[in-house]
Amino acid sequence: MKYNNSPIGIFDSGLGGLTVFKEIRKILPDEDLIYFGDTARVPYGNKSKDTILRYSAEISKFLTGKGVKIIIVACNTSSSLALEDLQKEEKIPVFGVIEPGAKRAVEVSCGGNIAVIGTSATIKSRTYSRVIYEEIESLSEHEKGKFKNNFNFKIIEKPCPLLVPLVEEGFLNDEITKGVIAYYLDSVVKEKPSCLVLGCTHYPILKDLISEVIGKDIQMIDSGIETAKTIKCFLEENTILKDGTGMGNESFFVTDDPEKFKGLGEKFLGRAIKNVAVINLSL
Ligand code: DGL
Repeated sequence: MKYNNSPIGIFDSGLGGLTVFKEIRKILPDEDLIYFGDTARVPYGNKSKDTILRYSAEISKFLTGKGVKIIIVACNTSSSLALEDLQKEEKIPVFGVIEPGAKRAVEVSCGGNIAVIGTSATIKSRTYSRVIYEEIESLSEHEKGKFKNNFNFKIIEKPCPLLVPLVEEGFLNDEITKGVIAYYLDSVVKEKPSCLVLGCTHYPILKDLISEVIGKDIQMIDSGIETAKTIKCFLEENTILKDGTGMGNESFFVTDDPEKFKGLGEKFLGRAIKNVAVINLSL
């Protein structure tokens, strides 16, 4: 198979990465996509760095064994803690979801405060703050000045650990979930951020509820959308887009019950999911 016609590998701890998968499919309809959801071991967000590194490396090996041309780590927790190691270990390009979201936040905030929500592990790693400051440093002097002249500029990082289990249990449009969002975000809104980065791939599915809580003045940044744009540019610039037109193939691998994955996954994607296989990574 020609290298450019090889599939793209996308992985997450569970279902959340489907929000990234969906955005990739929208703007790259020809590409063959392989999605891996580590549903037996989700959540990663409350696990140690060593465990997240080990799980992420195992999945990357599985995907490279399938001949993928690039890997997308469609999990903020894994992107925060394991991306650099994966990039060193793998011979193919490996992309995370943090940098594209952080870049967009810096673009839209114009010197205003930036809020980030994510799992406990993502927030504890402070990776978003580090990458946002790197993005600010890479700006022109004029643009950088907007941040330097705002002496009160701050990045507000807030862990929201209850949101992933609520999504995984299907509480997608529910008063309980709205109450939990308000519990976490009321204090964030008081800091008047210009934007809110959805720093967990499960959160875009809660966009409507989050918007009801934070109002219209705070722009939401969906790192899935930003990551999809980054990937498209990379494939174009390196002339490794897949040949031909039409719908690319899709296959899904999970480490636990495929029916459960399909049930909720179809709500994430808004369409049917076919070709789901169960994999035991320890074999
Ligand atoms: N999808 C993960 C993320 O983006 C959240 C789920 C988990 O904790 O594993 O961080």
